[in-house]
Amino acid sequence: MEQSRIAAPIGSALDRFIKSRQDEFPYASGELSQLLRDIALASKVVNREVNKAGLIDIMGAMGSVNTTGEHQQKLDVLANIRFSRALMKGGEACALISEESESYIDLNNSGKYVIAIDPLDGSSNIDVNVSIGTIFSIYRRKSKTGTPIQPEDILQKGTEQVAAGYILYGSSTMLVYTTGHGVNGFTYDPTLGEYFLSHPDMKIPEDGKIYSINEGSYNSFPEPVKQYVQYCKEKNYSGRYIGSLVADFHRNLLKGGIYIYPATAKDPNGKLRLMYECNALAFVVEQAGGKASDGQKRILDIVPESLHQRTPFFVGSKKMVEKAESFH
Ligand code: AHG
Ligand code: MN
Ligand code: MN
Repeated sequence: MEQSRIAAPIGSALDRFIKSRQDEFPYASGELSQLLRDIALASKVVNREVNKAGLIDIMGAMGSVNTTGEHQQKLDVLANIRFSRALMKGGEACALISEESESYIDLNNSGKYVIAIDPLDGSSNIDVNVSIGTIFSIYRRKSKTGTPIQPEDILQKGTEQVAAGYILYGSSTMLVYTTGHGVNGFTYDPTLGEYFLSHPDMKIPEDGKIYSINEGSYNSFPEPVKQYVQYCKEKNYSGRYIGSLVADFHRNLLKGGIYIYPATAKDPNGKLRLMYECNALAFVVEQAGGKASDGQKRILDIVPESLHQRTPFFVGSKKMVEKAESFH
């Protein structure tokens, strides 16, 4: 049984908070805490670069394409470098799965953890000064430390995550994460260079009135999704779609809502990637009392077959996701 604990006071610095929660981890040797700190540090560097995107020539497409064929922005590349370096230095991670790399990156054979990351999510919004994010999942490796990485270390299902979260570079920069004991949100104070607890023990409203989906693709949605969208209109729900998954997800987490990226004619398995987009947010939303599915099955139960696998994604308030599923 989980021990009851005194809630950390609002305003606690992230480092202190992580330290005070270290005993929650089954193997509390401090490495996972260090990984979370490394991610937080890299996010501060990325935040600095995101903030000056309009000032120096780091905006715009690089002319290269990433593993999934989309245009890679300079900031995508920069963010990938920042996070990989931060994770490489500490030695806690043995492998890194990233949207920006075709195959996984071997880091340190004696590391215990595997990280999956979308270094910059919503990159098409960089040039227009709209919120973007970073998404991360942390797994414990299955094979023995000190030996080469095995496929079973890499292709783990979402239920195996030991920690996951996101950073939102928005009107404020926030870091939201879970280690399976609830969800906590921290707001960055750029004048002090530190994250402070601002949203303790976050819970998503059980029901909501916001639906977030790219309705431009309506004609190619599967029939059940079309029906659910019609239902949302009949109910007079608000349609809100930023086009940055992290930002849409975060708003719905706070206000109650559903985000859907369904199968479309262009993307028959949906657009979003299981391993470094959907699993992390599914873990967070479940810990906040919400739900995540592919329309039928729980996201966290999907056994990945490849690194860049896509899945349809329905995530948000429990009742809304259940309603959307009921049309399937
Ligand atoms: P990324 O920038 O990491 O490639 O992710 C973009 C994703 C996600 O953030 C967003 O919700 C979705 O793409 C938007 O896609 P559409 O433009 O097709 O709606
Ligand atoms: Mn993304
Ligand atoms: Mn990305």
